[in-house]
Amino acid sequence: MLKLSVIGTGYLGATHAAAMSSLGFEVIGVDTDETKIAQLNLGKVPFFEPNLEELLTQELASGRLKFTTEVSDAADCDVHFICVGTPQLKDSLAADLSYVNASLHAVAKIAKAGSVIVGKSTVPVGTAERLSKELQAINNQVELAWNPEFLREGFAVEDTLRPNRLVVGVTSDHAENVLRQAYKPLLENNVPWIRADLPTAELVKVAANSFLATKISFINAMAEICEAAGGDVTVLAQAIGYDPRIGSRFLQAGIGFGGGCLPKDIRAFMARSEELGAKQSVEFLREIDSINLRARQRMIDLVRADIGNDLKGKKIAVLGAAFKPDSDDVRDSPALDIAAQIHASGALVMVHDPKAIIPARARHPELTYSESIEDVVNAADVILHLTEWKIYRELDPQLLKGLVKHPVIIDGRNALNRELWLKAGWKFRALGRSSAS
Ligand code: UDX
Repeated sequence: MLKLSVIGTGYLGATHAAAMSSLGFEVIGVDTDETKIAQLNLGKVPFFEPNLEELLTQELASGRLKFTTEVSDAADCDVHFICVGTPQLKDSLAADLSYVNASLHAVAKIAKAGSVIVGKSTVPVGTAERLSKELQAINNQVELAWNPEFLREGFAVEDTLRPNRLVVGVTSDHAENVLRQAYKPLLENNVPWIRADLPTAELVKVAANSFLATKISFINAMAEICEAAGGDVTVLAQAIGYDPRIGSRFLQAGIGFGGGCLPKDIRAFMARSEELGAKQSVEFLREIDSINLRARQRMIDLVRADIGNDLKGKKIAVLGAAFKPDSDDVRDSPALDIAAQIHASGALVMVHDPKAIIPARARHPELTYSESIEDVVNAADVILHLTEWKIYRELDPQLLKGLVKHPVIIDGRNALNRELWLKAGWKFRALGRSSAS
């Protein structure tokens, strides 16, 4: 049985380590952050992800999974998965590769002959070939492969154990065979296996995320047209989605995409394509980014259209801070960005979220937060529905009507049942649905 290490125990790494252990491998998770390692060894996940804490506790108890701050503890491993972050650089569109570079160099020094280092982090195309050369200079007994990760927050465990495909960028049969062994239990379930070269494997990830971002911005562009023409984007999305060539998923119009992947990945892709002399090929992603950011502004415009241009002294109730439901991630969250911009215009903004209040407060301490929906909507001039948590769909409009100052709700995610709210006497607004009354 192979022994595996996972370098970087953030969102991707912690999930990968626990999931691979659950497949029966001995796994050691390595991170430089002592607090994180101490927490993980106690079975605590430092972020919210459904089912992960249970899996972590189970795997620690099995004795197969351990976490350490010492990379040398991983010296006897056969495969080293690099799962560190590649955030956007502060002063450019490009990705910060310092964590990937540092981990590769650290592992290169301790890896045993015949082992394979496998990058899972999202990197600009060309990174793996460069790192491969650097690896050969330090340790020519070890190979580098690239195996991009496609997991979605909120479904991380599910996506890791039941991926819709496995893509491996390799330069030898040995590396492919080692990876086939590591993923054997998944391959037995007929998960498609794609062998590629290093640049193609890197590109698959950014191409997939660019396509998803494009799909969301496409429907948000249609939402803008529906608003101008008096149409309803939810009906339009349903209608075009029945064409199997288009498909109905990722056609949910609203305040757009955020999170730690889509926005930074399309920007890094633009930056890298320019370096490659292929700027024009992905120039359309600039428009995808603009449409996406415009959706946030359109939401704010809707608020102003309803309660007046001057937001000073108005109470705005915000439902949702996370960038999507079932996550406490507020990185580049459209919901939190909108809340902060409205606050900056002088309104009193009160934010509710079932899981993301602590990270949201760390980013935007100027906003007011409450764990009680009643507190948040109490005497509100308008309610904004910005993250489609299930509990918001289950709200009773009749009950809430007695708490607010004005019964006005704006659905920024097109996820609420409009008829229900209208029937209870609310003024219902939504992005891309100008026919709402
Ligand atoms: C994404 C990719 O889906 C995943 O494959 C990759 O590995 C990492 O990036 P994630 O960031 O977890 O995953 O979120 P995703 O579910 O893709 O949603 C991204 C954003 O798009 C969210 O803010 C979501 O609210 C928004 N979105 C999604 C829409 O606005 N409309 C949609 O129809 C779908």
